[in-house]
Amino acid sequence: MDVDEILIVRALHVLGVVLWIGGVAMETTVLLPVMRRVRDHEERQRWFKAIERSFSWQARFTTLLVGVTGFYMLFALDGWGRFARIDQFWLHAMVMLWAVFTLVLFVLEPLVLHRWFERRVAIDHDGTFTLIYRLHWVLLIVSLLVIVAGIIGAHGGRFF
Ligand code: HEM
Repeated sequence: MDVDEILIVRALHVLGVVLWIGGVAMETTVLLPVMRRVRDHEERQRWFKAIERSFSWQARFTTLLVGVTGFYMLFALDGWGRFARIDQFWLHAMVMLWAVFTLVLFVLEPLVLHRWFERRVAIDHDGTFTLIYRLHWVLLIVSLLVIVAGIIGAHGGRFF
């Protein structure tokens, strides 16, 4: 692979990250707070499910794009040995974050989380939404830290 091709793959990687984590940010900082202000429980639930359903397709597609482009870069740069280096921890962080989202979006959400949500929201509506809101904040903050570390690391910055 020549340099130009790897730049295109890297651009696609970043584009995937922007759409994916940008979507998580929009959901966390705008949609969920607005939804929590909706007083009617059924309406709130309807909105939440509709937004989650359509965003989860976008998130699945962008997660796949980020994973394929990320592994392709590693393959093209022959960068597997970097996983043995502690100063490349930002690479481990990217793969771990990607694995968590992949597990949630492709396995847990369709098989477990939908049923868990229906059961828990019937028992404790407000508590369930507070928990979901907090989990989104955790995922967003971790994702932003990984992005910052990734940019610094990929451009030759040293952390220690
Ligand atoms: C399977 C998962 C992933 C793999 C294998 C992977 C791999 C890579 C590789 C090889 C690079 C180029 C490093 C270099 O040029 O030295 C890179 C850059 C980058 N990745 Fe990932 N990545 C993955 C997931 C993620 C995730 C989940 C995020 C953020 C949420 C992310 C954000 C970035 C950023 C911001 C850059 C730097 C781009 C730049 O400034 O040029 N990656 N990734």
